[in-house]
Amino acid sequence: MASNPTVNYGIIGVGMMGREHLVNLYHLCSENVEVVCIADPHVPSQQLALELAQSFGRSLMVFSDHRELLDSGLCEVIVVSSPNMTHYQILMDIISHPKPHHVLVEKPLCTKVADCKKVVDAARRRSDMIVQVGLEYRYMPPVAKLIKIVKGGSLGKIKMVAIREHRFPFLVKVKNWNRFNANTGGTLVEKCCHFFDLMRLFAGANPVRVMASGAMDVNHKDETYDGKVPDIIDNAYVIVEFNNGTRGMLDLCMFAEGSKNEQEISVVGEIGKVNVYTIL
Ligand SMILES: NC(=O)c1ccc[n+]([C@@H]2O[C@H](COP(=O)([O-])OP(=O)(O)OC[C@H]3O[C@@H](n4cnc5c(N)ncnc54)[C@H](O)[C@@H]3O)[C@@H](O)[C@H]2O)c1
Repeated sequence: MASNPTVNYGIIGVGMMGREHLVNLYHLCSENVEVVCIADPHVPSQQLALELAQSFGRSLMVFSDHRELLDSGLCEVIVVSSPNMTHYQILMDIISHPKPHHVLVEKPLCTKVADCKKVVDAARRRSDMIVQVGLEYRYMPPVAKLIKIVKGGSLGKIKMVAIREHRFPFLVKVKNWNRFNANTGGTLVEKCCHFFDLMRLFAGANPVRVMASGAMDVNHKDETYDGKVPDIIDNAYVIVEFNNGTRGMLDLCMFAEGSKNEQEISVVGEIGKVNVYTIL
């Protein structure tokens, strides 16, 4: 019996997440998946990815620029795991390239709503490509089970979704890109897009009103990068109202190291309620 052809992947941005994708895709090698190339301008990141691939007995073609990777024609699928502020241009370059590439882009899609819309419009015009945003919380086993329960209808119509994340501060990233709103889209985009995605999924509706209050109260105040102090908030309360009457609430604190649960999710329907905890 003929085996399936190999699906060749390229990864753009091989920092922390890009290398996590490299490992995960290696675990799919029995499904004929291979990572064949990477693009990253940062030589230490390239080196770490190469060493990782070598530890699995694999080699990689290395590019410094994503456009060289696209022109190489080496892959059919691309994972974009570069910093948020680079997603827009990289995605537009992939989508406008003559060779079709399916794309998994790390959350968030872009840092600005207008850019997100342009990417979505451009992707819709390429019927030969699938462009997906990786919102991995949907696939965490406790959350996946919660989604199944909610979709199964045993809670009745969902009325309230409360999500609390109490955790450690933002990690250090390559060239500290995550210290500034202009690069990330802001904490509520960078960190909390997962939670707003889940609220929308549980509500089965779109948001119509948002109330929020947040500040940078504890973290990063003593850091400077090229003379600039970070501007990312480290705590917030957010209430979201959906167009079917469901309400969502987020309670974020990023100076709560040692909290028992990193995330706590509570979904309440007309006839039932489920709580989910993810442990640190
Ligand atoms: N799914 C999740 O839960 C999750 C968790 C963390 C980060 N992320 C997302 O993953 C992405 C990467 O974050 P990270 O934590 O790996 O950051 P990182 O700083 O560890 O790595 C980013 C890498 O991208 C490279 N890079 C910078 N500009 C580039 C460009 N123009 N082309 C190619 N590579 C470029 C950097 O040199 C670096 O090696 C971000 O979009 C982030 O929001 C998702």
